[in-house]
Amino acid sequence: MTEDLLRELELLREFGFTHLDIHGTPALAGRPAEAGAPDLLDEFRQIVIACEKCRLSKSRTQVVYGVGNPNADLMFVGEAPGRDEDIQGEPFVGRAGQLLTDIIKAMHLTRDDVYIANVVKCRPPENRNPEQDELDACRPHIRRQVEIIQPRVIVTLGRFALQSLTEKAFAISDVRGKWLDYNGIRLMPTYHPAYLLRTPSAKKEVWEDMKKVMAELER
Ligand code: URA
Ligand code: SF4
Repeated sequence: MTEDLLRELELLREFGFTHLDIHGTPALAGRPAEAGAPDLLDEFRQIVIACEKCRLSKSRTQVVYGVGNPNADLMFVGEAPGRDEDIQGEPFVGRAGQLLTDIIKAMHLTRDDVYIANVVKCRPPENRNPEQDELDACRPHIRRQVEIIQPRVIVTLGRFALQSLTEKAFAISDVRGKWLDYNGIRLMPTYHPAYLLRTPSAKKEVWEDMKKVMAELER
């Protein structure tokens, strides 16, 4: 069904069509925009788990795609899988992940309410920083996930998540705790939980940021 539709759209593009005016049929009218998100996310997963667009595909155990609610209002975007995530195939399940889970609980939410993903889907060896070409190769994946999920708020965790998603050279120290815009979505940059493990005193700033996020979600 979807494949047929894709083929048809590709044909139309070959015929020179650049856009379609969609007139809602009764069956589609009033359907929430995110109604197809679970299927779209699953279909996209099949593409991403086979990705070999950068060198990290060689050293990974598995691609860490993302978890949570396909219709989430709130999305957390991290950097890249670590050792535990590479083994389990799920983002934020190690020590930093436990802290993120605690932050989510403190917001009166669960991991199933939100969506969690990284800007780089495969583990960098020895947890080194992702390199620019790896960030560039993987960026379309997180951007497509955001497009499918259409969250109301995105929280980026740390510098790489913020800079890679937005493709802007923000300094975390300048923008942390300040609302930014990502394609019409409210974006709150905050510290990475791994930084909080090293610098527990920064937890209160992250909590200030999360209070702003909660207030925004309650609007
Ligand atoms: N740190 C991240 O940025 N992402 C994970 O999935 C785990 C740790
Ligand atoms: Fe593909 Fe991203 Fe994995 Fe690189 S890190 S192989 S771009 S999924």
